[in-house]
Order: sequence, then structure tokens, then C-alpha cells
Amino acid sequence: MVVTEQHDATRVGIGVLRAGGNAVDAAVAVGYALAVTDPCCGNIGGGGFMLIRTHDGRERFLDFRETAPRRATRTMYLDAGGDVRPGASTKGWLAVGVPGTVAGLETARREYGTMSRERLLAPAIALARDGFTLVAGDRVPIGGPRAQPGARYAQPLLAHTLELIARDGADAFYRGPIARAIVAASEANGGILTLDDLANYRIEERAPLHCAFHGYDIASAPPPSSGGVTLCEILNVIASYPLAAWGWHSARAVHYVTEAERRAYADRNAYLADPGFVRNPVAQLLSTQYAAALRAQIQPDRATPSAGVKPGLGAAWSEGADTTHFSIVDGSGNAVAVTYTINDDFGAGVMAGDTGFFLNDEMDDFTAKPGVPNLYGLVQGARNGIAPAKRPLSSMAPTIVTQHGMLRMVTGSPGGSRIITIVLETILNALVYGMSAQAAVDAPRTHMQWLPDALHYEPRALSPATSQELRAMGYPLRRVAQWGSAQAILVDPRTGALQGGSDRRVASGAAMGY
Ligand code: DON
Repeated sequence: MVVTEQHDATRVGIGVLRAGGNAVDAAVAVGYALAVTDPCCGNIGGGGFMLIRTHDGRERFLDFRETAPRRATRTMYLDAGGDVRPGASTKGWLAVGVPGTVAGLETARREYGTMSRERLLAPAIALARDGFTLVAGDRVPIGGPRAQPGARYAQPLLAHTLELIARDGADAFYRGPIARAIVAASEANGGILTLDDLANYRIEERAPLHCAFHGYDIASAPPPSSGGVTLCEILNVIASYPLAAWGWHSARAVHYVTEAERRAYADRNAYLADPGFVRNPVAQLLSTQYAAALRAQIQPDRATPSAGVKPGLGAAWSEGADTTHFSIVDGSGNAVAVTYTINDDFGAGVMAGDTGFFLNDEMDDFTAKPGVPNLYGLVQGARNGIAPAKRPLSSMAPTIVTQHGMLRMVTGSPGGSRIITIVLETILNALVYGMSAQAAVDAPRTHMQWLPDALHYEPRALSPATSQELRAMGYPLRRVAQWGSAQAILVDPRTGALQGGSDRRVASGAAMGY
């Protein structure tokens, strides 16, 4: 089964599985295909994380997160007065981190796949060269009549770039013509990328982050993503509450989940960063004692103002739409969860010469200045400050859930800082509230991230009576347009049957299986 945000890409994955490829082969082909059919989000100019669980229970986590260029500095987005220069970390070449996607997909294919690079890139190249037919929900960087459903959308320049990668592999991107095009465009437009930055890019293989919840084992993204740690910190706090008995999105359930989220995000923002640069207090944050201490702070009938919540170990936002997640399970039971991104809307909004793909603005995920909110309203600390070759802290959380050693769920979503609570709710919906995969990804959501101190909710997420109760408890409620796009697979514990759910918030997505 393959579940992605774009149906042509889903079909590419199914084609690879039918041709005998494994889930990693399918993931690599889907990764390249989404760079063509969902160019807002799918990418070769960004980075991300791939979590793999093989049918015999072995796990791999590939970190192909972008890195700061070597010439990056802690204060590079500040003006002479020490204030953040608006847009400097989100638009244009100075916002671009060294892309990791091609290195990540190539490593995955070489180490865990079975098919040739040419085979796995061929569908993406065909979709770029011959074009694909736009449907409602497709996100391509053109306005006007050409973007209408039914129109054909071809990207010959991108086709050529992908052909170079098919022929010469990651070298084409990191040492060859694509690297030269990126650096030339960067230098001509005020960027700081160098050929050395690209040649020195390395993916990292890391141990997945684990926690237990209601007899399930959760495997998710470790630092430099905050995704797994924050998800697990929330799950640890809420594990002892009878959420199912309280009812889905009842005032009581929303209250305790929100208070757990508030505290976990405060910790996230203060403590977590690239493990190559800071020591992340993961064991402390995920200890049972700490979860109990956080539970003890939660008042049964009152919201805690975020101003009163400090990182616990001691001391107007807009959602970009430029991440995407896909989930794949093959016939042998190998599972792959990938979330990758160029961060903001079409990344930094720049392409290098004739390469035909957008570069990321992942540098905005760093703390440009402690205390100043980033694109996602995250108020982050000094530990996530910019440094050469450092990876910016992410919220991406490709996640695989098992029970008694058996695969139960593969999930993830885009959504910036909200990714963590989207994945949380998707898991709770399926495993606590018994929803189908489709219902679990579609159900309306709530979100709290410490600052801003507001309980965000989607239309229909809270009944009028529940909203009233929550307001009476002191929650500033903020209704926000729909967010995220979860792509999940559930495995029936008795039959092993797979159930896919592609979030209806993005109409062009598709879950397909055979
Ligand atoms: O890594 C992160 O946490 C962000 N750059 C993800 C951005 C994202 O999900 C945008 N899509 N809505």
C-alpha cells in the first residue's frame, strides 16, 4: 500500500511494488515523483527524514536534513540594531540550507533498495518530460488558466536535472553540473553557498526515537527533529488518562492533551537542537518521573497560562505548505515513512539557472534570534542557533507503531510546528478511539505549542458546548483554517490487512493498495 499527497506519485509507488521492488524502492521512486507532481512540497532541493522498518523488525533512520552553509553565522538574519530582518531567513538565496534529499534517496536505494537508480527515477523523469494532468488540489507554481484542473503540466528543465541524477547519481547534484548551477545562482544573488558546502554534505544514520504508549511501541524521528521527542513527551504525560472513556475531543480530553502539548513544546523550544552541536536531554524529557512531574502541574479545571510554563528541566503565524509525507508498506511487511520538505511555500522561492526545482528555506527553522517567533510562531532558544554545517531543528515526525513486535501503523504529515500534534491525534484517533485510517487522518484537529498561548482548532474540531467549557477553563481559543495532511496506513492486528488513509484536506492525494 502506498499513501501520498499526490495520486500520480502514489501510482508510481504501486508500479514499483508490482514490479517486485520493496518498500524502500517504492519510497525512492515516490520521493522523486513527488518532486515533479507536488513541487510545492516534494523536492530535490530540500531535506527530510526516512524511517524504515523491515519485516523482521530491524529499523533504520536516515537523516537527510539540510545543513547550514559553512559561511552561515549565528546573527546572519539580524540587522545592525540586532533585530530580525523580515524575510531574510525565508525568501531568497540567503535562506537556503544545503539540500539533503538526493543524498538521502540515493543512500536509501543503495543500502536498502533492490532496484537501479535509472529504474526508480524513470517514472519521475517521464512525469516531468511528458507532463501530468492537473486535478483539483494539485499544487504547482503557476497561477492563471494553466493551473486549472485538466491542464497538462510539463517541466522539461526538471526532467533534464533528474536525467543527470539518473545518469551520475548524487555526484551530479553534489559535485557536478547541478552543484555548479546552485552555487552560481547563489553567488549572483546574495547567497553564501559554496561548492564545498555541497561536496561536504553528508546524511546521518541515526537510531529512531522510541517510547511506549498503551502497549504500543512508537518509533519516530530523533534529533535534529523534535518530532519524536515531543510526540513521546506528550504521549508519556497523557498515557495514564482514560481518554477513550472521556470521549473524542471532549473538554476533559482536549484539556489534558493541550496541557501536555504546552509543556512539551516549551521543552522542545528550549532544549532540542542538532545532536552534533548540543547534548539533547532526551532521557530526562522522556523519563516516567518527568511525565509524572508534568502531570502534577496540570490543574484539573483550569488552563495554565503559557507565561507560567517554563522549560521543565531547570530553568501570528502562517503555515507554509511545503512539506509532504508518504507512507508505504510492501507485501513482505517492510514499512517506510518519509517526511521531507523545502519548508515554506515553494521554499525560498528560488531556482538555480535551468535546473527547474525550488531550493528550500530551511534556515528559518533555526533560531534567528532567541525569543523571536519563526514562520510557525515557534519561539525557540539559543541552543538551536545558527552555526556552520549545523542542522536546523525540525518538527517532522515520520512514525511507525508496532504492538508485540507486529506492525500496526505508519504515519506522518506536513504542517510545520503542528506536525507533532497532527501525528499525535492521528495515533490517538486510530489506536485509542478506534477510527479507520481514513477517519483518523480526516478528523478535525486541535493544537497548542506553548507560544502563542492559544488553543488552535479546526472548523468542527470542538462542539459548541466543548468550546464553551474550554473557554470557561481559561483557554484562549483560536479557530484556524484546516492544516496538515496526514498520510497513514493501519495494519489489522488479526488479519494483517492494510488500510490506507490519505488526508482529504489535500484533494489530490491518494491511498492505493493491491
Ligand atoms: O522541519 C520542519 O519542522 C519544517 N521545516 C516543516 C515545514 C512544513 O511542514 C511545512 N508544511 N506545512
